[in-house]
Amino acid sequence: MEVLKFLSFPTVRMRRLRRTPALRDLTHKIKPNPSDLICPIFVDENAQVPIPIKSIPGYSRLPIQYVLSEVRQVIEQGIKAIILFGIPSKKDETGSKAFAMDGVVQKTIHNLKNEFSNQIVVITDVCLCEYTTHGHCGIVKDGEIVNDLTLQILQKIAVSHAQAGADIVAPSGMIDGQVRFIREALDDAGFNQVGIMAYSAKYASCFYGPFREVVESVPIFGDRKSYQMDYRNPDEALREMELDINEGADIIMVKPALAYLDIIYLAKSKFRVPVAAYNVSGEYAMVKAAAQMGWVDERAAILEILTGIKRAGADLIITYFAKDVESWLNQL
Ligand code: PBG
Repeated sequence: MEVLKFLSFPTVRMRRLRRTPALRDLTHKIKPNPSDLICPIFVDENAQVPIPIKSIPGYSRLPIQYVLSEVRQVIEQGIKAIILFGIPSKKDETGSKAFAMDGVVQKTIHNLKNEFSNQIVVITDVCLCEYTTHGHCGIVKDGEIVNDLTLQILQKIAVSHAQAGADIVAPSGMIDGQVRFIREALDDAGFNQVGIMAYSAKYASCFYGPFREVVESVPIFGDRKSYQMDYRNPDEALREMELDINEGADIIMVKPALAYLDIIYLAKSKFRVPVAAYNVSGEYAMVKAAAQMGWVDERAAILEILTGIKRAGADLIITYFAKDVESWLNQL
């Protein structure tokens, strides 16, 4: 057979560095680490035993006294931070349980800090929707979410979390001015060391579905489109992030993650501040469901997704996969 000669074949051969696993490991760029991940924890004031969450497999609504052992396991996996969500024993119109000193989140923070001190970064979601009977993220008057009345409540919530020992508070309501007002309130109360992770670019998304069922925060009227962002608009995200940085945010967040990798990329290229991405409940549920059907390899999918989010520019990832970290990192 005639030997074919490609004398003019280019000398650049991209496959050279892909030839062996060792070469690939040597030249890889991005790798998610356990210390990049933030694990969500749901605490339910009414629960006597952990109540498994069907739509977020592997997660339960935990009674306060169960959180310590859960967080111990998380720490053992090399995770450095958790984010707490509370489900109060009682909801009301103004979400007053959200800033009660003996509230479900406040008690939990207190226990965690007593037990683990600075071994774990305790982040808290600062929002009203888990605490209000109407399920909206702000004070409602005549069917409207009233921005400036809500700010005062958010200040109280943030300060109560700081008093209980939170390291970072994370306002998630997309209420205008929330970062500035919370920063001021924290400083006035002597908590200038407590950080703010702002849910800056939070889009009105269908992917929060499983989460809302857990905390029973599906709005009883309307939707969240008058405060969360319209996903057809990338410019607004940049304005929101810039505002939050100017108002004092230490970390900015993009949420959800997967349909918003461009926004994460923009955030990181435009602002040199830590960027967090929230890989939300619906994104987790999709992987779990497809894996259960045998349609995707679960660990490979997790690794590919989290690497993709990091590659887009996220420094931190809030993800329900944080709990499985050991099993999927084994595949690296
Ligand atoms: C509270 C809040 C929500 C999520 C995090 N904080 C729900 C919402 O905005 O409706 C969603 C998280 C998830 O889906 O994993 N405002």
